[in-house]
Amino acid sequence: MWTRFLILLLLALTPQAIISVKQRDLETVYQWKQLVYGFATPADRQHAQSNGYLVPENGTPIDVATHQQAKGSRVFVTIPRFQTGIPYTLAVVSDSNEANGPVLQPYPDYSYHNAHGRDCNKITSAFRVAITECNQMFVIDSGVIGMTQHCPPQLLVFDLNTDTLYHRYRFESSMYVPIASLLITPLVVVQDPPPKGRCRRLHVYIADVTHHGLVIYDSELNTAWRAENKFMYPDPDHGQHTIAGANFILMDGMFALATDQRQLYFHPLASISEYAVPLSVLNNRTMWMDNLEAMPEAFRLVGRRSSECAAQAMDSHRNLYCVTFNPIKLIRWNPSKPYNVKYEIEVPADPQLLEFVSGMKVFKNDAGKEELWMISNRYQKVATGTLTDSEVNFRVVRRPLDDIQSQHPPIQDLSQRLIFT
Ligand SMILES: *[C@@H]1O[C@H](CO)[C@@H](O)[C@H](O)[C@H]1NC(C)=O
Repeated sequence: MWTRFLILLLLALTPQAIISVKQRDLETVYQWKQLVYGFATPADRQHAQSNGYLVPENGTPIDVATHQQAKGSRVFVTIPRFQTGIPYTLAVVSDSNEANGPVLQPYPDYSYHNAHGRDCNKITSAFRVAITECNQMFVIDSGVIGMTQHCPPQLLVFDLNTDTLYHRYRFESSMYVPIASLLITPLVVVQDPPPKGRCRRLHVYIADVTHHGLVIYDSELNTAWRAENKFMYPDPDHGQHTIAGANFILMDGMFALATDQRQLYFHPLASISEYAVPLSVLNNRTMWMDNLEAMPEAFRLVGRRSSECAAQAMDSHRNLYCVTFNPIKLIRWNPSKPYNVKYEIEVPADPQLLEFVSGMKVFKNDAGKEELWMISNRYQKVATGTLTDSEVNFRVVRRPLDDIQSQHPPIQDLSQRLIFT
């Protein structure tokens, strides 16, 4: 009896008593007034310039991912070809700086980017990326420039140790509708991670933002299938947005994905709802091949937040993060609580740094600690044509999560400890 009481007391005190991490702030890692495109050679620059591919004011970065390895850390950004004038669409941030911001370099090199839709073996328009514990970067290439579907969408896997293309998967025509579809967000779940596993078995979940769907890629079968559900559509009641006082309409559907390795959490952009579906349901290929709208009962409304948000990410403690539009707030929610405005916990952050966060990742640094990385691009200014290069428009920001996580031990760990009482 007393032992039991003491153990419970100890458990109750542990988080505060042992770990006291002071509250963390957002840190701006990079910022740009306008993108600064670097080139490995003067000939590459000349090629871009003389063909009208180098129009810096046309570029808007939308995703960020960071990777740590022995030779140092690297930060990648994507610049989709929403219009022409984008010399390359996947870049790594270099150490050199110019007046408008740090200089980008094409990844893996300029030759992957210089075809602008005329060669589907190259990259046409990289949307978002996912870096796995296997040192691989998954890139979703929509195949679209402006309003033209130049190439089928493809999934590219780069080996980050060698910076070479490790695998390419081209989506078959049944996986998307040219122009109507836009594949934008990959989320990778590795079934056999290192050190024990060999990174052979993984699933990639890819959001089709404009044609209400999800494409699931299975590495073992090297094939893909499609799943659709009513929750993947935009909600017209939330199609008009306000960010930092600017209004715009954006009827984006299926947009942001996150997972706790059991459920896929997702939301359309034009929505205030969060939804979930078990991964095991999505992974059942035969069922989806049979019926594109299978298992509607497996999809559930998780809850509603105070405002729309774009990208989202989940940490290993199952905290789900996103940045609401109006007002601009970095919010956190844990599935142990109901998803509603009451349990939408605000993480203090300067809203100026977070105007439209279109890319968000949880990154494990070399000390094994998780950090939240975000890219903000003031899309409200892009949409309303009010972007000017006299202000900082694009920012990569990071925030350590140890303060939040020390207050909220992982749910699994807690249950394991309680078994001993
Ligand atoms: C996949 O779904 C089919 C049809 O609903 C079911 O019979 C089968 O058991 C499922 N397979 C797995 C591995 O869950």
